Amino acid sequence: MKSMGRKLSVAVFGASGGIGQCFVTAFAEDEAVRAVHAFSRSPEKNVSPAVSSHPFDLLDESSIEHAAELVSRSGPLHLVIVATGLLQDGDTTPEKRAHDLSPSAMERLFRINAIGPALIAKHFLTLLDRERKSVFAALSARVGSIEDNQLGGWHSYRASKAALNMFVKNHAIELAYRNTNAVCVALHPGTVATSLSEPFQRNVPAEKLFTPDHAVAQMLTVIDSLTPADSGGLFAWDGQRIPY
Ligand SMILES: NC(=O)c1ccc[n+]([C@@H]2O[C@H](COP(=O)([O-])OP(=O)(O)OC[C@H]3O[C@@H](n4cnc5c(N)ncnc54)[C@H](OP(=O)(O)O)[C@@H]3O)[C@@H](O)[C@H]2O)c1
Repeated sequence: MKSMGRKLSVAVFGASGGIGQCFVTAFAEDEAVRAVHAFSRSPEKNVSPAVSSHPFDLLDESSIEHAAELVSRSGPLHLVIVATGLLQDGDTTPEKRAHDLSPSAMERLFRINAIGPALIAKHFLTLLDRERKSVFAALSARVGSIEDNQLGGWHSYRASKAALNMFVKNHAIELAYRNTNAVCVALHPGTVATSLSEPFQRNVPAEKLFTPDHAVAQMLTVIDSLTPADSGGLFAWDGQRIPY
């Protein structure tokens, strides 16, 4: 991340996830990074001297507010990664057709994929450094693009990611008024071998199924290339801008 200078302070939400964990490791090993604040529901202790781990829950705004207070004590932030997300769990499976829609499952995906990250932005965008480039990046998904949708299905996941994309765009517009050096974007990591994609990996060609390390290296290259003019966009792992 040459474009961002040294002594960087970064925060990762979803530090327990397949992709989030790799971001934490990459930052812990990067000499330009001074402090890594890793947030998850079950924080791992003693990951590395550079990493401080703390609890938070997307469904509890006060835990996000508390996280922001904690981070604000160590000065401005340069990078915030939101690597949380939900495709399915014990109570939900991605809907194949409208008949499968369930209000409780829809609400759950919206709360985790859209509302939670929007609340992280609410409390963390004000902590971004105003003196040099800083980036807020939320992991979205290509399937959240309305224009790109050719297949249908996965109603709640698609719609919750589309809502996240709108939050990112709105936050970016507001952020530009008070911090001209900041960038606020959504990122598509590609199809990545994590527990989230595991049930759906069978039909993915090997060369299109990334390791989390590879996806993170690609996204860090994209983040490095971003400028404030890119704020509000949705970018894929290869730097390509995806239409909303
Ligand atoms: N993997 C892919 O192929 C792929 C493709 C496109 C987009 N993405 C996006 O990339 C992001 C990361 O996905 P991943 O593959 O790394 O998934 P993952 O391994 O399942 O990680 C998901 C993360 O979200 C956290 N999370 C879920 N509910 C939470 C809550 N209520 N409060 C706090 N944290 C919560 C999980 O925490 P716990 O460990 O506590 O459950 C975990 O850290 C997601 O936004 C996903 O939609 C992934």
